[in-house]
Amino acid sequence: MTRKKRILSGMRPTGHLHLGNLHGALANWIEMQDTYECFYFIADWHALTSDYDDTGNISDYVKNMVIDWLSAGLSHEKSTLFVQSHVKEHAELFLILSMITPVPWLERNPTYKDQIAQLGNKDLSTFGFMGYPVLQAADIIIYKADCVPVGIDQVPHVEITREIARRFNYFYGNIFPEPQAILTKMSKVLGTDRRKMSKSYNNAIFLADSPEEIASSVSKMITDPDRQRKNDPGNPDICNVFDFHKLYSDKSLVDEMNAECRKAGIGCVACKKKMAANLINFLEPIREKRSYYEQRPELVADIIVTGSNKARKIAQQTMEEVRSAMKI
Ligand code: TRP
Ligand code: SF4
Repeated sequence: MTRKKRILSGMRPTGHLHLGNLHGALANWIEMQDTYECFYFIADWHALTSDYDDTGNISDYVKNMVIDWLSAGLSHEKSTLFVQSHVKEHAELFLILSMITPVPWLERNPTYKDQIAQLGNKDLSTFGFMGYPVLQAADIIIYKADCVPVGIDQVPHVEITREIARRFNYFYGNIFPEPQAILTKMSKVLGTDRRKMSKSYNNAIFLADSPEEIASSVSKMITDPDRQRKNDPGNPDICNVFDFHKLYSDKSLVDEMNAECRKAGIGCVACKKKMAANLINFLEPIREKRSYYEQRPELVADIIVTGSNKARKIAQQTMEEVRSAMKI
């Protein structure tokens, strides 16, 4: 039997996860649990690269994210779930890699310039922010991961990781495999305003939302913009609510809404109510599991400690090889 390939991926702790995260990264991660040896971690040190001035929420965000993961179907029995800052070896390898990484590689990184432009109100001219991909490289190669499932925006970071691994191997001997990016299938859900779903756009529906919050968010969703009045026929093909119906309603209701909308047989309010009910239903098992874990904080803490201990064992082994290769 051949060994399962090892994958590793991480998320920054952003607070609660939303439907976009669920149908994007998380769904992919859950699916891969049976075919790969999976390491999933919360990149809390990465959060510091941009949110260094306000760290008070990070540990709550970490706990919340673990609960979201478990509730959505990541399994601490199948996969190793851990927190970056619990495995200090990441920091040691980061330091070593920072010695061999040429600054121009980091300056060339497209996400570096993008983020500085996007977060213009924030001083990101820090050493740590520029070194973000070096920390990410350490995260990945310390586990000798074969593959890294990531969104398209993270592909340049995996590319830099490969370059850093190659450079390390060139100087000190062949220790690190070069990891491959696996492109995450994109989520099809948009935010309630039809932009990309994002916490910072205020257009997200969260896994932890109550049925009332979901109903209220759905009631505010933008529909076919050309449909002004209830008697105007609508076009489901350009309606975000209809896209949600396709995800959460069964085929007969989807067909019915499709037909009724086109002949103005149903109004948007009623159509949204039907979709909201199905979305609330769909998220019900996740909400149930969430409340189970929320009532058992010691269990959640234990899952994090156990996962981090497992990860640390491997990270320590790698660091021994690194020190010995470098004769330190
Ligand atoms: N940079 C990633 C993001 O913002 C998170 C991350 C940190 C990561 N370290 C990683 C992802 C290692 C994959 C592998 O989404
Ligand atoms: Fe969209 Fe439904 Fe309104 Fe048609 S009836 S425009 S599908 S919300």
